[in-house]
Amino acid sequence: MSPHPTTALARPVFDHAIGVFDSGVGGLSVLRAIRAALPSEDLVYVADSGHAPYGDQNESHITQRTLTVGQWLAQQGVKAITIACNTATVVAARSLREQTHVPVVAIEPAIKPAVALTRTGVIGVLATRQTVQSESVAKLCTQYGEGKRILLQACPGWVELVEQANLHSPLTEALVQQFVAPLVAQGADTLVLGCTHYPFLRDAIQRVAGEGVHLLDPAEAVARELVRRLGQHRRTEGDGTTRFFTTGDVAQVQRVVADLWGDDAVVQALPS
Ligand code: DGL
Repeated sequence: MSPHPTTALARPVFDHAIGVFDSGVGGLSVLRAIRAALPSEDLVYVADSGHAPYGDQNESHITQRTLTVGQWLAQQGVKAITIACNTATVVAARSLREQTHVPVVAIEPAIKPAVALTRTGVIGVLATRQTVQSESVAKLCTQYGEGKRILLQACPGWVELVEQANLHSPLTEALVQQFVAPLVAQGADTLVLGCTHYPFLRDAIQRVAGEGVHLLDPAEAVARELVRRLGQHRRTEGDGTTRFFTTGDVAQVQRVVADLWGDDAVVQALPS
């Protein structure tokens, strides 16, 4: 027996992995892009489902959760953290960056690319209530949106649909219709998917918007930025592992992750 039985515990559990988190399963849309760009990296995903949805909570709750999950990942030894949640980014990315030594890459609504793409000059931004009301989004609109009409649309209920993997029901179609149709009626030809849950509703959104309307999901851009930030610390050999944790109901999250990610995913509990 080792004379120092606790020595093994001193090594961080996920040394050199990449941490990715969201309020729930939405960030899997970003994880998918990261996995495609970085097949050899070990990925650790946290769904903070015990405290979701973030979009309807106040800023101090969102900041406190972002710092708690971010610091947990940093303590496990990850070499980078990806905030796969627009709401957490616009409210708390700055605080997390101030409080951790680990590089943080954060998704944000793709308003700049939307401005480059629109022909009608009307852009719809679909996001959570906190995101559409945030100062960060107001700044992005001022910075890039000159001469364009940017319609900010909160979509209550959409996150809950995705959290139940309810992507194709009549209720889903109705809720998508409710928030997308008015934007298209006002001339929007480009819609920003400003919440990481929404790419899972892409089919329903495209059906309502029509084939000619662009849907922008910045997940691949986030993955490219992560590759850039990793630089020489990027792993390029072998197959990486993917681990899933949740602060919510493990059985429920397991079912949805199996649906949205794949049957081989195993979800473990992360103490709330
Ligand atoms: N997926 C998160 C985002 O990108 C928000 C979901 C929530 O409201 O918890 O904004």
